[in-house]
Amino acid sequence: MQPITIAIDGYSSCGKSTLARALAKKLNYVFIDSGAMYRGVTLFAIENECIINGIVDKEKLTQKLEQIQLRFASVEEDERKHLFLNGKDVEKQIRSMEVAGYVSEIATIREVREKLVLSQREMGKNGGVVMDGRDIGSVVFPDAELKLFVTASPEVRAERRFKELTEQGRNVTREEVLVNLMERDRIDTSRKESPLIQVKDAIVLDNTNMTPEQQLEFALQKVHELAI
Ligand code: DC
Repeated sequence: MQPITIAIDGYSSCGKSTLARALAKKLNYVFIDSGAMYRGVTLFAIENECIINGIVDKEKLTQKLEQIQLRFASVEEDERKHLFLNGKDVEKQIRSMEVAGYVSEIATIREVREKLVLSQREMGKNGGVVMDGRDIGSVVFPDAELKLFVTASPEVRAERRFKELTEQGRNVTREEVLVNLMERDRIDTSRKESPLIQVKDAIVLDNTNMTPEQQLEFALQKVHELAI
């Protein structure tokens, strides 16, 4: 079978990256977490005075976009690739609640999206890629052979994220995590630039009551059906 492009979109914290990573591993494809790139730009904005007193200065950030270089690279201590922002490993920092609090707003900026979409297309141009995000099936790879739209109930998603964050030793409450993810869903689905939508040719995967293994099996089944 020719290497294909797989687009996985959906709401915040519904396990898209976990599924995409497992699927890429199984198929020997490249996995790209496009959300990490929006988080990288957000971290840059925080570190470069583009967010003052909680207000995002969109113009200032847009002017500085050329200074942002993002890439994924392997690191010794982890089998997962890490995001590097201007040469620095920022994988841990981009997962903070501070970054999570601003990233959806940063992702509404058209110039930010244009920059990242270009680089995502470049990374996936040869196929053999599983990319997850919000606009992969609608904007980045509208011709992707397989598109999945992942969803789960907000409470289940918040619980999973809460567990993940507390396991990493982060000091958060369930309530805080739920509020953050509902707010991100609201911004992501209502923004003007490439809002999160379920495209017509996407297959819905509601994983509220599914294990990661069952989700992988579901996705692999869809890949194999394409080959028939
Ligand atoms: O998948 P994530 O939670 O790491 O994504 C972080 C934010 O980035 C999310 O709130 C919306 C935005 N995003 C986006 O707008 N488009 C993408 N392709 C991926 C993420």
